[in-house]
Amino acid sequence: MQDKILVIGSSGQIGSELVAELRSNYGDSNVIASDIVASNQIIMDSGPFEILDVTDSKRLYEIVKKHEVTHIYLLAAILSANAEKKPKLSWDLNMQSLFNVLDLAKDKIIKKVFWPSSIAVFGPNTEKIKTQQYTITEPNTVYGISKLAGERWCEYYFNKHNVDVVSLRYPGLIGWKSNPGGGTTDYAVHIFHEAIKNKKYTSFLTKDTTLPMMYMSDAINATLKIMQTDSGKIKIRSSYNIAGCSFNPEELANEIQSYIPDFKISYNKDYRQKIADSWPDSLEDSLAKDHWGWQAEYNMRKLVKEMIENLHKKYNC
Ligand code: NAD
Ligand code: SER
Repeated sequence: MQDKILVIGSSGQIGSELVAELRSNYGDSNVIASDIVASNQIIMDSGPFEILDVTDSKRLYEIVKKHEVTHIYLLAAILSANAEKKPKLSWDLNMQSLFNVLDLAKDKIIKKVFWPSSIAVFGPNTEKIKTQQYTITEPNTVYGISKLAGERWCEYYFNKHNVDVVSLRYPGLIGWKSNPGGGTTDYAVHIFHEAIKNKKYTSFLTKDTTLPMMYMSDAINATLKIMQTDSGKIKIRSSYNIAGCSFNPEELANEIQSYIPDFKISYNKDYRQKIADSWPDSLEDSLAKDHWGWQAEYNMRKLVKEMIENLHKKYNC
C-alpha cells in the first residue's frame, strides 16, 4: 500500500519547504499538508490541505483515518523567543502535540514519526565548541525544556512501545522561501531581507554571538534522509546532533557586504541575547555521519551566495 504523509505545521518556516520537497518525491496527492492556519498558495493549490489544531486528538485521528496516513512529520510548535512570552501555552502545545502523534504510532494507526528537536536542548553548562551528542543538557528556556522532554519521550516510546520515531536537533535554519516564526536565530534570515530592501539591519544579538546554523536545503535533505534510512541503522531514538556552519552577526554582515558593499549593520540586543548565550557555538555530529550518512553541503559563504541571489530575484532587483 502507498505510504501517505501528513505534515503538521505546513504553514511555518520549515513546513512550507518540506511539503514541496515531499510532494515532489512522493507525489502531490500522497502528502497532506495541515496547520491551524492556511498555508501558502502553492501548498494549498498543489495537494490536499486540512485545517488542524494538533492538540485536538479527535480531529487529528479523523484526518489520519480519512487520508489513510502512515507517516507524520510533526512541525507545529512555539519557538524559543515566543515561548518565553507564553510559557504555559508553549509547554502545552509542544508536549501535547507530540503525545497525540506518538500515541497514534503506539496504537499502530500510523507507522512512522518525524519530530524535530533543537540546539535549545543544551544550556549554559554545556561546552560551547563542538558540543557533543552526549553531554550536559540543562536548558534554561521553556522551549529548550520542552525539546529535551520531547527527546526523552521519543526514546521512551521507541523502547517501551516500539514506536518508529526519528529526530534531529536542528540548528538555526536559514532559507529564502519562507520566514522564521519567532525563534532566536531569526536574525540570520531577517538580515538578508533588510540588506536587499533597505541596505541596513539592526541585530538583536551582539556582533560576537556565534550560533550553529544551517541552510534550509541541508535541513530538508537531512529530514528526508533520516526518514528513508533503514530503521535498524538509527541507533539514537532521542535526537541526533547535525551540524551545518557556525557564524556570528558580524561575520554574516561582512559576507553580505561582499555582495552589497553599502550594507550597514548595527546592534541593539534584547531578551533574545540571553537565550542565544545559553546555546552552543558549534555542534559535533559524527554519530549522524556514521549511522546514516549525514553530510552538510552548505558553509556560510555558499549559504550567503544562495540567499542573496535568490532574494535579489524575488525582490526583482
Ligand atoms: P514555525 O513557527 O515557522 O511554524 C510552526 C507552525 O506550527 C506554524 O505554521 C503554526 O501555525 C503551526 N501551529 C501552531 N500551533 C498549532 C496547532 N495547535 N496546530 C497545528 N499547527 C499549529 O516553526 P518552524 O521554524 O517551521 O519549526 C518547525 C519545527 O522545527 C518546530 O518543532 C521547531 O521547534 C523545530 N525547529 C526549528 C528551527 C528553525 O530554525 N526554524 C530550529 C530548530 C528546531
Ligand atoms: N531556530 C530555533 C529558535 O531560535 C532553534 O530551535 O528557536
